Amino acid sequence: MSAPVRFERIDGVGVITLDNPPVNALSIALRTGVRDALSEALADDAIAAVVLTGGGRMFCAGADIKEFDTGVSNESPNLPELIELVESSPKPVVAAMHGTAMGGGCELALGCHARVAAAGMRIGLPEVTLGLVPGAGGTQRLPRVLGVQAALDVIVSGRPISAENAHAGGLVDELVGPGGDLVATAVAMAKKLAAADGPPPKTRDREERLEEARQQPGLFNDYRKSIARRARGFEAPYACIDCVEVAVTKPFEEGLAFERDTFQKLRASDQSKAQRHAFFAERQANKVRGVSPDTKELPIRKGAVLGCGTMGGGIAMCFANAGIPVTVTEGEQAALDRGMKLIQGNYAATVKKGRMSQEAMDACMALITPTLDFDSIADSDIVIEAVFENMDLKKEIFTKLDALCRPDAVLATNTSSLDVNEIAATTSRPEQVVGLHFFSPANVMKLLEIVRGDRTSPQVLATALALSKKLGKVGVVVGVCDSFAANRSLYAYSRQAGFLLEEGALPEQVDKVITDFGFPMGPFAVGDLAGVDVGYKIRQHRGRPDGRYSDIADKLYEMGRYGQKTAKGWFRYEDGRTPIPDPEVTELIIQTSKDLGIERREISDEEILQRCLYPLINEGARILEEGIVERSSDMDLIWLYGYGFPRYRGGPMFWADLLGVDHVYEVMKGFHEAHHDWLEPAPLLERLAKEGGTFGGWSAT
Ligand code: COA
Repeated sequence: MSAPVRFERIDGVGVITLDNPPVNALSIALRTGVRDALSEALADDAIAAVVLTGGGRMFCAGADIKEFDTGVSNESPNLPELIELVESSPKPVVAAMHGTAMGGGCELALGCHARVAAAGMRIGLPEVTLGLVPGAGGTQRLPRVLGVQAALDVIVSGRPISAENAHAGGLVDELVGPGGDLVATAVAMAKKLAAADGPPPKTRDREERLEEARQQPGLFNDYRKSIARRARGFEAPYACIDCVEVAVTKPFEEGLAFERDTFQKLRASDQSKAQRHAFFAERQANKVRGVSPDTKELPIRKGAVLGCGTMGGGIAMCFANAGIPVTVTEGEQAALDRGMKLIQGNYAATVKKGRMSQEAMDACMALITPTLDFDSIADSDIVIEAVFENMDLKKEIFTKLDALCRPDAVLATNTSSLDVNEIAATTSRPEQVVGLHFFSPANVMKLLEIVRGDRTSPQVLATALALSKKLGKVGVVVGVCDSFAANRSLYAYSRQAGFLLEEGALPEQVDKVITDFGFPMGPFAVGDLAGVDVGYKIRQHRGRPDGRYSDIADKLYEMGRYGQKTAKGWFRYEDGRTPIPDPEVTELIIQTSKDLGIERREISDEEILQRCLYPLINEGARILEEGIVERSSDMDLIWLYGYGFPRYRGGPMFWADLLGVDHVYEVMKGFHEAHHDWLEPAPLLERLAKEGGTFGGWSAT
């Protein structure tokens, strides 16, 4: 098997091209190939210098993440060894980067003696998003070229920077504009370095940018404090800061050893495994049964949203944010005005927080066209219906859309629970109909549940997946069932939260257990944010689901406690958003227990966690076995992006695999014996527990 590198001689310079599609991940084969090509160049007297570049669409996406599980990433030459060879090369090595240089790709470039970048490319160290620190010198070399503060920003956020910013900061030595020749520029630079006196300059020897930080003793602790909120529960961001601090306080070799040691520890941690799982889960979700990679998606140049309430307005904002013109319609001027005011207010708040410029806001507002003229949406590429959750109303709308829209237009419904097949059947083109279930607030939450009807065409599914990417969402395809995968599993969770109150817990206790686990909010604070009245109306409209649920929420509604909007719900609010336990609610809960004849008991935090999360896993098992989702990692994505399940735990199904499916089954069995309601272990949970299987390893075939 030939090594995935190409080697050629250009003008007395050895050009090594990484050739490991699709992303030039630094697998053992690629590392070996680069090492051998470098040896060849060093041994050849006719070669004065070396250029390292990438073939295909990018320079390099870094280490091969799949090797982290098998340990092959440690095999020689491992990445630190390879970079050491590059940096200590007596002949200068210049990186020529285009597309993306991420992780190990960026570290390899940092080991080079100079860096040339194509304008517009992106460079960064995203390891933190995988629960890791850069493990091949990134935390030691980047501060030396970019400065400590800027390096911290790059490493701790994991967000790549543009070549232009990298150039301004000193990470890139030369930019090549459009039409320029990247490799030729790098070759010229390599020759210039070779012609200079002395050995090529090594990044490790550069101290001047570290000096700046040595004059600021509080820098690292301040940085730790500054990330406390967004990094709550995560280990890797703090480990990244530790590594950069060591770069400043210790000699290079010691820093390198500390970083490697930290990397190895994190690589073996559950947090990193969970975050690596999430990375691959996102990519897996794009692979959908019946949709081949060659399926051509339909172009979406113009959208329309029917309904300009909270949901419709949020969806319209998603389109505008992605630069896609969108029309929003309402039945009455007042509702349209209200909706547009809401959109305007949302954008203005973002501008006020400094997260958006006024110009960007104006550009987005200009892309949104409000209208009462339903017929004006006739030429839209996609129409998303976001009206009230009522089947008759939706059917009426889809009948009209069928008559009005182009035959190739995608007709989508934002229903969160209704039968997409029934809606599609009212049209003459059910293959064009799909569910696009956004999560509230639609302009913020990243999950897009793509509901595939029995007749939805592969092309429409491919279009929905591509659109979700364009809108910055994570699209997960699910099948039709009552409430689909997301809300159906959410009910399993929130129902138990309600029962726990009747049995002895209080909202503040349940919410604390859930936020300590890592969710941003507990179920009751979420209820107050979404609106107790909203939940109430849905229950009134849909009727009660089979079996009993706790009606304390209904009583709150009757007391006019609608949540944050009335400053009173499950909690009371003084500043509009910080929940404060309220004795009136405690009294109501205690009275409810009495009325039900339940003797209240002390409930442990462990039981609260298990009672809330294991039934959700259990429902996930049913959803999986019914084929509503294709794989367990799809359920994980739904919870990571729809409900704030902590990413460092990988999602409920991954977490269950870590805990042991047999343990989850045993606990569920105990719950079922004690409580009955909704707690019967799912057949798949039972089977996997008995076979010693995992959700991740299970497939329907
Ligand atoms: N190791 C192994 N496989 C990788 C990889 C890596 N570092 N980076 C990407 N891949 C795989 C993906 O899993 C995907 O595989 P699939 O086609 O079988 O699903 C394929 O390469 C294409 O990746 P994708 O993310 O879909 O391409 P993209 O063009 O949208 O994005 C990147 C490209 C580089 C921005 C993105 O892949 C990325 O962020 N990669 C990880 C970078 C990273 O974290 N590096 C540090 C490693 S410690």
